[in-house]
Amino acid sequence: MQTIKKRVAEAILAGVNALNADHGLSAAEIAALLEYPPDPAMGDLAFPCFRLSKVLRRSPVQIAQTLAGTVGGEGIGSVSAVNGYLNFTVSNEYLSSAVVPEILEKGDRYGAQDFGKGRKVVLDYSSPNVAKPFHIGHLGTTVIGHSLRKLHEFAGYDCFGINYLGDWGTQFGKLITAYRLWGSREEVEKGGIDVLVSLYVRINNAIKGDPEKGIAPRDDLAEASRAEFHKLETGDRENLALWRWFVDISLKEYEKTYKQLGIAFDSYLGESFYTDKMPAQIEKLREKGLLKIDDGASIVDLSDYNMPPCLILKRDGSTLYPTRDIAAAVYRKETYHFDKAIYVTSAQQCLHFAQWFKVVELMGYPWYNELVHVPYGTVSLGGEKLATRTGNVVLLRDLFGLAVEKVREIRREKGQVAENDDEIAEAVGVGAIVFYYLSNNRMKDINFVMEEALNFDGNTGPYVQYTYARACSVLAKAGGNDGKTVHITCEEESTLVKTLCRFGEKVCAAIADYEPSVITRFILDVAAAFNRFYHNCPIHTADDPAVRASRLNLTAATKTVLGNALDLICLRRTEKV
Ligand code: ARG
Repeated sequence: MQTIKKRVAEAILAGVNALNADHGLSAAEIAALLEYPPDPAMGDLAFPCFRLSKVLRRSPVQIAQTLAGTVGGEGIGSVSAVNGYLNFTVSNEYLSSAVVPEILEKGDRYGAQDFGKGRKVVLDYSSPNVAKPFHIGHLGTTVIGHSLRKLHEFAGYDCFGINYLGDWGTQFGKLITAYRLWGSREEVEKGGIDVLVSLYVRINNAIKGDPEKGIAPRDDLAEASRAEFHKLETGDRENLALWRWFVDISLKEYEKTYKQLGIAFDSYLGESFYTDKMPAQIEKLREKGLLKIDDGASIVDLSDYNMPPCLILKRDGSTLYPTRDIAAAVYRKETYHFDKAIYVTSAQQCLHFAQWFKVVELMGYPWYNELVHVPYGTVSLGGEKLATRTGNVVLLRDLFGLAVEKVREIRREKGQVAENDDEIAEAVGVGAIVFYYLSNNRMKDINFVMEEALNFDGNTGPYVQYTYARACSVLAKAGGNDGKTVHITCEEESTLVKTLCRFGEKVCAAIADYEPSVITRFILDVAAAFNRFYHNCPIHTADDPAVRASRLNLTAATKTVLGNALDLICLRRTEKV
């Protein structure tokens, strides 16, 4: 629609110029005012004439009526005036001879933009805390983060994905203590991350105690954990070796999940990497007179900005989460020269990011406004009973595993079999969860209901992946499509092409709002339009060979757009199901 919007805007501009050239509006501004009428009977695009009323000294109704008689041009079907709106339809000729050929020519690049060319984005996402469980709370940062990466790449940006592992901190003191008390090398080697997580959960429970059950808190274990972390920080060889081992085991496990999602990172430099990079920043804060001592701790006062102070050093001199983030941002700017740095975390961290972004600004770094925090809402699990070997959190791996298992069952019931059954079940099961999650605006709190996510007939991942496979199988059955031309013969066809050609705009909107759900909803629109076309318009059995060829081209165009869009939200293109 981008091109047609431009054409319509230029046509309006010419019409307005003829009435009074002194209106000060540009074609781009007019394009931005164009709306999609909610009711397609009103046309494909509508221009509200209210904005022109002042300069043209006429009522919007009069303006619309006058312009309706003069505006027109290539691509524009009909123009009508309704209540101060100028309504346009797009011509079928344009849809068939411009839009569809463009889709088929550009293929994988259809919808791609170039406004990011020559610009670099670093994205910090997923970033689980080693030794703590990788749970459903991390689903958001992982899939929103990766989708934003794909979207930015599609817009021409040079992207660099960073998994800022939580690989440092007091939790390692706890884990080392628990391992020495209750663990063994053989057990950890065999059970991997599960053993680590259960050791971690066990020591946490012991430290907390359970006063209701008469179990006293174990302060001695808390003390021992602090001592072990201190040893780790001061370079104790044995503790360092254990730490490295624990990190490696965890990474191996995360990688399985990333592989299922088709995600890879460019860097795994975690919190530990920045240990020796913090002192320079602390020094700079001091030089700038920004550090204040408050009850023994070093803070940056942010009361002028209506925020609580940003904590830089604890009373015992140890560094904190914001301290590391500041050092990491400086390192990334100097190393990767980003034009934009995106951080995806739950909304619970909004204050943290607002605080340290402010501190970076106060430190005088000119790039403070290139830092972007992208928050998202909470995820809870409705009704689903999942084994919670880790206390009360649900591991991402188990959630995916359950979905894949259920897809297998559903396919068995439906009698669907394929050579690559396992691959399909995994793509559809994992895809179902990702799609369900990305269907909502990211700030919305989500209650996860597995049955809804897996409903093959609902607005779900399985539904769109099966639609994609349907388009593929139509083409396979016909031995492919031939040429690029389409003749639009019915409303189902024109609606489908009009839907497809909005893709580029959706990509821009998703990037502007850091909102992958724009793409998810677009995919649903395409799937609905394609399925309506598929059910109402015979393809293989069309009497006229020209109609058959045209419909195959239309199917190929749909496959292209759907495939490109699925890539952007981390769903696999399922050619066969
Ligand atoms: N490891 C953190 C967590 O799981 C997220 C890190 C986000 N990135 C950052 N640069 N602070 O809560």
